[in-house]
Amino acid sequence: MEYLYGLLFGTEPDTTDVDARHALHAKLDALPDRDAQIALTADELRLLKAEMRGTPPKRQHGGGDELFVRMRSDLEEDHDAKTADAVVDAYGASPLKPNPLAKRRPSPDLLQLRKAVQDAGPLHDLISERQLSSSVPKERRRTLETALSCVGEWGFDVWAVADAFQGDTLLAARAIVDAVVFEARGFRAASTSHLLRQVVAKMLASYQDVPYHNCLHGADVLQAMHALLNLSPSFDDALDDDVVLVTLLACLSHDVGHPGLTNNFLVETGHELAIRYNDASPLENMHAAVALNLAKPYLRTRPPEEQKGARALWIGLLLATMKEHSHQIYELERALSKATERGSTYEACAPAHHVPCLKIFIHACDVSNPAKPWAVYRRWTSLVMEEFWRQAELERERGLPLTVPRRGATDLAKFQLGFISFVRPLFAAADRIAGVEMGLPLRHIDATARRWQEEPSRVEEGTRE
Ligand code: CMP
Repeated sequence: MEYLYGLLFGTEPDTTDVDARHALHAKLDALPDRDAQIALTADELRLLKAEMRGTPPKRQHGGGDELFVRMRSDLEEDHDAKTADAVVDAYGASPLKPNPLAKRRPSPDLLQLRKAVQDAGPLHDLISERQLSSSVPKERRRTLETALSCVGEWGFDVWAVADAFQGDTLLAARAIVDAVVFEARGFRAASTSHLLRQVVAKMLASYQDVPYHNCLHGADVLQAMHALLNLSPSFDDALDDDVVLVTLLACLSHDVGHPGLTNNFLVETGHELAIRYNDASPLENMHAAVALNLAKPYLRTRPPEEQKGARALWIGLLLATMKEHSHQIYELERALSKATERGSTYEACAPAHHVPCLKIFIHACDVSNPAKPWAVYRRWTSLVMEEFWRQAELERERGLPLTVPRRGATDLAKFQLGFISFVRPLFAAADRIAGVEMGLPLRHIDATARRWQEEPSRVEEGTRE
């Protein structure tokens, strides 16, 4: 099942613009069928709506009046049922219970909205979607629009988006990806954008419904990469568009199919993933296999030599895992020291350093929650702890040694300070790369650590026995 999804930030429409009307008609005429994916601008939607009513379109108030528009003729189900199920069939379902903190199913009002869209004809679909968007309570729409307008910033509030969608992680993740990939980064203009949208939808749908490693985490890492590149504009500018796109998609897909359990657990329990990959990083190998399989239709649109490069980059980024954390820092510090000895600097913009720097970036984004504003970090922490606790319960039930924190018996402040001291050196080393700016993430890390140090009694609800 395919989706059309547009996040549109409207400007004042020029209702007398005949060229705009002609352009709109040409665009609509070019639609191959009613399932074609097309994103119309807010102005085009207003024109279209007015034409269908036979009245001139009303002027919207200007100054960044944003519209949130989702367009799709068949919105009965959220995703291609084949994707998530196929991943589960091939790689194993998570034995974790469904996550009560993040729901994946659409809320009733969204279902109603989708039904309205479904009942309409092809052109009416687009308009109904617009109406649907306005049926989302105003306060929530405003919050959503405000949050998404900051999608390029490091302090982006992912939870404002999730809350606006009433915790529907799939919709929230789609909105974030759309705002970054198709809006901010402009890949909507690419001739392959419809294929890209399908690939994105399938990747999101291939995440399992676990507390932390769900599709919102994938979208969050993608957004963090976008924001980190924005913080280092010279490095960003030095990268080819294709490399940026593959990097963003690698971020999005880096944990696809994650069962919410650690590699260690999978190996200890002889899980089918561990058997398939001979106990060697089963999760990361699976993420790379699933992601690249889903990406095939898009990669095939590239010339053969580019396909090979894109695949290699994607795999390299996905395998830049926690296991390589210390190794990555060691290698980077060695390269930095060598450059200093030569009396020069290690430049992110040097073509030979692009991939090593992107590997540092993706890993930094993956562990970036303590480097975010406290409120954003705190909710990720609740979810990651929930996932650990559930694994601990499984370990206890199966008589395995406990390898993750146990519910009710965790000194959260101590545990988080440990995690922060593990993460900080990565950001600190990256900050020494010429052309890379990690000052803001580092300030957040230090503020997060201070907060735990000053308020060690600030324990997670339910952590105490
Ligand atoms: P994974 O996504 O495999 O790699 C990064 C890991 O960091 C992630 O699994 C979690 O286990 C861990 N992690 C992320 N955020 C936190 C956090 N706030 N506290 C403790 N561990 C975390």
